[in-house]
Amino acid sequence: MNGVKISAVGHYAPAAILTNEDLEKTLDTSDEWITTRTGMKRRHIASEDQATSDLCIAAARNALRNGKLASSDIDCYIVATSTPDYAFPATACIVAAQLDAVGKPAFDMEIACSGFIYGLTLASSLIRAGVYSRVMLIGAESLSKIVDRSDRSTAILFGDGAGAVVLEAAAENSFLSSELGADGRRPETLCLLGGGSRRPFTAESLEAGEQYLRMEGREIFKFAVTKMIESTGIALQRANLKKSDVSWLIPHQANKRIIDAAAKYLEVPEERVIVNIEEYGNTSAASIPIALSEAVTAGKIKAGDIIVFVGFGGGLSWGAVTWKWA
Ligand code: UT7
Repeated sequence: MNGVKISAVGHYAPAAILTNEDLEKTLDTSDEWITTRTGMKRRHIASEDQATSDLCIAAARNALRNGKLASSDIDCYIVATSTPDYAFPATACIVAAQLDAVGKPAFDMEIACSGFIYGLTLASSLIRAGVYSRVMLIGAESLSKIVDRSDRSTAILFGDGAGAVVLEAAAENSFLSSELGADGRRPETLCLLGGGSRRPFTAESLEAGEQYLRMEGREIFKFAVTKMIESTGIALQRANLKKSDVSWLIPHQANKRIIDAAAKYLEVPEERVIVNIEEYGNTSAASIPIALSEAVTAGKIKAGDIIVFVGFGGGLSWGAVTWKWA
């Protein structure tokens, strides 16, 4: 067996909801602006005592239940996140311990919104190489914790949540191709400036708001559409697939206009694009696995369907994976 398949999915979103109407009360913005410019209506927000590992654990438990698996059946735990519980240790270590899987390997991947695409490539490769038989890959974020609630250009965009998939060895191979890329020449295009080794927190940096996410929205918008189209094209070519072979496009949920522009160019009809941005906003590394989990739970995805997962984000980074659902 040197194939891999996704054998179970699960997701979790915190109960508290922040609506466009709520944002209207505290910011110079409107439901109309947010809806037409982004497609967003609501975001789920972690409570004060919920950290990213808590969201991961809830999503992982759902995936284990759906797959009728015990946490000890998983050989390795990977968490893709840019909002870890701590700078270190890895959030995945905390998740595995809380799931009673102490001793299993567990590590994080930090590649912002592209985290799930990179993780899918890595986890599939580990399984196909025979290193592990089952891997739990979780994309999770608590972005509300690093958003400046007084900045209307970012505060309206981000939400919290987690999506988990169990990947396992299979006779047939679902992982058809991958195209990943990064360009770190201008990290500040989308970043959390403070708190790292370059700019450790000081009273002055906190005063300047360096504990909050910063983004050059218009730059990212152009980059996102271009890279979604390019990376999907390359991934399709690598798998010997045509645009018309695509059953489902599951894109990173950053902006409905970005998704529409990419889907139009890729000639994927609207009803074949999984979009849940209205309900969750942008949940970075969690957005693709949440969308997948919802689509699978709703019975949309059938055996043999060809899925394109495509994402982009901080780094800058991007990637697409083509997948045949088993
Ligand atoms: O996960 C990956 C990371 N992020 C992204 O993918 C984000 C990519 N970028 C975007 O989604 C869009 O660029 C935004 C949604 C962030 C902004 O939409 P836009 O259509 O690019 O707007 P803009 O930045 O060009 O701003 C247009 C106007 C500006 O006013 P002026 O200068 O024309 O008077 C902004 O000040 O809209 C104003 N504006 C707002 N108005 C009401 C910016 N934010 C808001 C707001 N409410 N929340």
